[in-house]
Amino acid sequence: MNSEKSSYKIKGVLAALLAAALIPLAACAVAHDVTPGSTDTADATDDAGRTDHAAEKTDTPAATRAPSTSGGVLVVYFSRTGHTKPLAEYIADELDADLYEINAKVPYTDDDIRYYTDCRADREQNDPDARPEIAGELPDVSAYDTVFLGYPIWHGQAPKIIYTYLESTGLSGKTVIPFCTSASSPIGSSASDLHALAPGAVWNEGRHFAIGTSREVIAEWVRSTGVVKNINVNTGTVDIGTRSVLLNSGYTMPAMGLGTYSLDHDTCVRSVTALLQNGGRLIDTAYMYGNEEAVGEGVRKAMKEYGIPREEIFVITKIYPSQFGDPAAAIDAALEKLDIGYIDMMLLHHPGAGDVNAYRVMEQYAAAGKIHSLGLSNWYVSELTEFLPQVTVTPALVQNEIHPYYQERDVVPFIQSKGIAVQGWYPLGGRGHTAELLGDATIKAIAEAHGVSSAQVILRWNLQRGIVVIPGSGNPDHIKENLDLFGFELTADEMNRIAALDRNEKHDWY
Ligand SMILES: NC(=O)c1ccc[n+]([C@@H]2O[C@H](COP(=O)([O-])OP(=O)(O)OC[C@H]3O[C@@H](n4cnc5c(N)ncnc54)[C@H](OP(=O)(O)O)[C@@H]3O)[C@@H](O)[C@H]2O)c1
Ligand SMILES: Cc1cc2nc3c(=O)[nH]c(=O)nc-3n(C[C@H](O)[C@H](O)[C@H](O)COP(=O)(O)O)c2cc1C
Repeated sequence: MNSEKSSYKIKGVLAALLAAALIPLAACAVAHDVTPGSTDTADATDDAGRTDHAAEKTDTPAATRAPSTSGGVLVVYFSRTGHTKPLAEYIADELDADLYEINAKVPYTDDDIRYYTDCRADREQNDPDARPEIAGELPDVSAYDTVFLGYPIWHGQAPKIIYTYLESTGLSGKTVIPFCTSASSPIGSSASDLHALAPGAVWNEGRHFAIGTSREVIAEWVRSTGVVKNINVNTGTVDIGTRSVLLNSGYTMPAMGLGTYSLDHDTCVRSVTALLQNGGRLIDTAYMYGNEEAVGEGVRKAMKEYGIPREEIFVITKIYPSQFGDPAAAIDAALEKLDIGYIDMMLLHHPGAGDVNAYRVMEQYAAAGKIHSLGLSNWYVSELTEFLPQVTVTPALVQNEIHPYYQERDVVPFIQSKGIAVQGWYPLGGRGHTAELLGDATIKAIAEAHGVSSAQVILRWNLQRGIVVIPGSGNPDHIKENLDLFGFELTADEMNRIAALDRNEKHDWY
């Protein structure tokens, strides 16, 4: 560790994680080392807009780095002989958490830790006032809710440098989860002895691990704590300027596109090519719509006719609960039907028996690069709260029913606050309901004020709420119109008038 450097650096560790290959991890998993002087590496972004956390490069311009994912979990540890260190790293990897190693300003020599020889460590542990100084800056903990705190047992206690750390940082209001390694002693009172040093912190029960504890055991314990992954707070919300949304997977998704529900084969091919010809790049399909082949055909046709690179196009498909029994077969079938190389985003279409396992299989396909991003559809607050701690890769997207008569004003911020993008289905109310919604007096008045259509107002209202839209259409004129959402802006008053239309009126059962 080079203690001369003082700036915080990001360290990509994905390659090592994938090499372990025992835990399915999607390409987005990354822990960030915020220890001063840690390895100077940065993430790289490829042509497809995907961030490759495995690539280790120096001097990467800030603009191409993945944004920091700090904003939830920090793993702090002290490890003089290297036994606690890997466990801290496993925890950080599991949670995409930031990692901070406590180092002594005056490093402990081998003689300093030769215990029962009245060595430095013996003396410090016997001295209630000993507070060994820490090297470098401490990380700012204001951005974290949860701090895992790791240390070796020294004479039945945490090393006194842990006391220094706790007295030098403000953990009030944070949840602190201690863990330790030792030759044989249990955690004993070592953790509860620390409570008084961090007033206002909420202390979880600590956990002892034997030296050499495996990644699997640590992963299982992390899951049992109920702590969810660090979330990239910069992801998941539509950026009107770039007409896109940065996903927590590192990929970028267009902010508006085409829904293909109920489009027959020929209409679907025509609609997809019309979308791509007119600058749209996002297409939503599903096994259940029976038109994945048509979507693939339309994509390939447009790539050939209009010279659009595959990387610019973003195709979402979904697997249905009836397929959860054999998710690998379902994913393979979708890849084959679409026949466009890889799937940009795959969703579980609905909650159902076997959904967690199906998602974990999708995680494996993501790790293999066959699917780029993962998501869920028709998952609401309670379903998400139950689901998220059970999976390794945080979904990049949740697709739910959203329109002015069913706005999900509690669900949308809940999802977005986790860095997960929200996409609205039935944006125009769904077939059979569009006339009422497009004819709504408030919407029409706002549309007239801007010289645009009711559909454009509703779609723009979604974008201004940070929500991605996928209006369905078999009409090329409508498809073109639905992409034309950037020549006007709804005022705060207009946004409020549309918000007031909410009736909590679902137009489908799920
Ligand atoms: N995850 C799920 O469970 C779920 C459920 C339902 C839907 N979805 C997805 O969400 C997409 C959108 O939903 P949806 O297609 O059912 O309903 P929708 O987008 O709310 O409405 C589609 C209807 O709006 C009309 N329309 C589209 N643009 C228009 C415009 N500019 N002016 C006037 N009318 C216009 C279409 O007619 P024309 O064909 O004549 O343009 C069609 O009748 C689906 O296609 C599907 O991809 C997902
Ligand atoms: C000064 C000192 C005191 C120790 N006291 C204990 C002890 O009381 N009980 C025990 O089981 N192990 C004890 N150990 C062993 C360490 O707890 C154990 O090797 C630990 O895994 C080291 O973690 P680290 O490699 O992350 O520093 C002690 C080690 C040192 C250096």
